[in-house]
Amino acid sequence: MPKTPTIKTALPGPRAKQLIKLDKSYVSPSYTRVYPLVVDQAEGLWVHDVDGNVFLDFTAGIAVNATGHCHPHVVKAIQRQAKQLLHMSGTDFYYTPQIQLAEKLASLVPGKRAKRVYFGNSGAEAVEAAFKLARWHTKRELNIAFFGAFHGRTMGALSLTASKTVQKKHYNPLVPGITHIPYAYCYRCAYNLCYPECDLFCVKWIEDTLFRTTVPAEEVAAIFVEPIQGEGGYIVPPPGFHKEMYRIAKQYGILYVADEVQSGMGRTGKMFAMEHFQAQADITAIAKGIASGLPLGAMVAPAKIMDWEAGSHASTFGGNPISCQAAMATIELLEKSLMKNATVQGKRLMQGLHELQKTYECMGDVRGKGLMVGVEFVKNRETKEPATAWRPRIIRKAFEKGLLILGCGENSIRFCPSLTVSAKEIDLGLTIFEEAVREVCS
Ligand SMILES: Cc1ncc(COP(=O)(O)O)c(C=O)c1O
Repeated sequence: MPKTPTIKTALPGPRAKQLIKLDKSYVSPSYTRVYPLVVDQAEGLWVHDVDGNVFLDFTAGIAVNATGHCHPHVVKAIQRQAKQLLHMSGTDFYYTPQIQLAEKLASLVPGKRAKRVYFGNSGAEAVEAAFKLARWHTKRELNIAFFGAFHGRTMGALSLTASKTVQKKHYNPLVPGITHIPYAYCYRCAYNLCYPECDLFCVKWIEDTLFRTTVPAEEVAAIFVEPIQGEGGYIVPPPGFHKEMYRIAKQYGILYVADEVQSGMGRTGKMFAMEHFQAQADITAIAKGIASGLPLGAMVAPAKIMDWEAGSHASTFGGNPISCQAAMATIELLEKSLMKNATVQGKRLMQGLHELQKTYECMGDVRGKGLMVGVEFVKNRETKEPATAWRPRIIRKAFEKGLLILGCGENSIRFCPSLTVSAKEIDLGLTIFEEAVREVCS
């Protein structure tokens, strides 16, 4: 495969145009396609469209293809399992891959307590399971989540979500009893304070105001949090945030639920982003990068918390044998070298973006951990007025030049390439990104 973007046709090309027309006739109009990419095949970080155009992929299929497209080790594991057993339903029967993966995940999720694993097919299902388990275990009705959070589209996960109103419009009433509070978004602090002088006011506010005025702490089942907010804008909270949140949760018998769907499985250079904060969670939701593109979600909790009875929650397809084998192969690669590569290449990417930030006033904030990196665009560094209209134009320009990137938040762009990305690919991505920024913002 060529290791350089090659754009041979106008975009979309003739074959892509035909397929997009067909798609419009048959596929749900609820999907958001930001540019007209019709994928034919892919390998590593390189995506070929149906017209023979070649793109460098810094989206990894929305932070999913952790090991790159079609990593041979993962493909082999899938092929081997496909010949042996496709499905038997792990909720009614036993099979080896599901048991082995549960053992592995229980050992990977931080915390010494004996753990149990529930399997679903997606991030939303992992969160939904956490939501139900928190109610089951605590017998409490209320929950806390954050503005900007994205936890999924099923009714429970959607109720915890506070990302964009278009995701909620016409779906009310949602699950009641959820209070959303400001995230530790230091670039735009909801309380107009600065870290560290703020002394984590956003956390203290929960005890001092929320629990004293509207939300009785003893009725709260769980606090749902993304260790690094993903869809909300790749927002990294300050160092003490999760530790302090966890302390409050424990003080009131509340479960702390880490939604690691986007930030987990090595993306930030550690298996789980929570590890960067030396903080713990009671329940961890995992999906996306776990199986390199096969559908799989998992919810991990201490055995003492996962105390629900047989029949209280299950899924026909959850923990499918092929997805479990893909996950085992993925984890092997992550542990062998890819988490380390995420740290090394993440640093290179951040340095490159910080360098660009010196030239381009519109790059208001550059932030991230490992290969979960975001740039927030502003019209003016002083006023921080969001450059909402520039963001899609930059993404489109990058696409036309052969680089695939995605937005997050209202005015940010995320970089979440596969963890196999090389230094050369990082530099190439930065070069194309700079051209796109220059053409739109100057
Ligand atoms: C943090 C987080 N949680 C949950 C989800 C939902 O995952 P899925 O789309 O697999 O249901 C997402 C998806 O973007 C996510 O980023």
